[in-house]
Amino acid sequence: MAKQDYLHGFTKKEQDRLIHQARFLEPYVYAGVDLEHKARLLEVGCGVGAQTRILTRRFPDLRIDSVDLSEQQLAVARKTLKSEIKGGRVRLFQQDATKLKMADAGQYDSAFLCWFLEHVPKPLETLKRVRKQLKKGAKIYCSEVFNQSLFIEPYSPAYLKYWFEFNDYQWSIKGHPFMGAQLGNLLKEAGYVDIQTEVRPFHFDSRQPERRAVFAEFFFQILLSAEKTLLAAG
Ligand SMILES: C[S@@+](CC[C@H](N)C(=O)[O-])C[C@H]1O[C@@H](n2cnc3c(N)ncnc32)[C@H](O)[C@@H]1O
Repeated sequence: MAKQDYLHGFTKKEQDRLIHQARFLEPYVYAGVDLEHKARLLEVGCGVGAQTRILTRRFPDLRIDSVDLSEQQLAVARKTLKSEIKGGRVRLFQQDATKLKMADAGQYDSAFLCWFLEHVPKPLETLKRVRKQLKKGAKIYCSEVFNQSLFIEPYSPAYLKYWFEFNDYQWSIKGHPFMGAQLGNLLKEAGYVDIQTEVRPFHFDSRQPERRAVFAEFFFQILLSAEKTLLAAG
């Protein structure tokens, strides 16, 4: 397998976090995602299959080919998606998306990328590669992070310092913790048309103490997801 610098690592805890994260943020990611009349979807950066599973549930007629670089992630995806794979609805492929080349190129009428471009050193090349695999007129959905938008009140220098190190480390390994801000430009440059972008912020305060606590814990786990990698990097 190609060498992969990956901020979050591949521990079981992290793989479980991806499953939880996909369900937790499902209402935000899937609002407006319409794949009702699509037949074949290419999912790039599928990880442990957390989104794949949601996609198969929400769009029962869709056949999905999912790609990830990491064999460790795909091994978990094979378990997560056992029945969907057996039923012929999902196929998994190990490939580096920056060199993506699918045997069924030209047959996909849709694509789905989620929290993935932030991890590739060449997002523009990757989006061009993805486009080459798609049918003319295909639809692509991309959800990406904008880490600058995370803020904790009251002011906490310790959290801000940690968050800076987190983002700066990702930047140093040629990832992009602010990918969301770039997405429209990249899609345009990669040749996509009819591009629509949307910012989906959330803000909780003491008016919704329970929601606020749940989201605080969710983001706490995201911060901790890079703990081992950051310590190892000094
Ligand atoms: C944060 S995970 C997101 C997984 C999934 N989309 C989800 O929402 O749960 C990012 C995934 O991108 C994969 N990845 C990173 N670089 C890649 C590359 N060059 N080609 C394919 N996959 C890659 C990682 O192995 C990881 O599984």
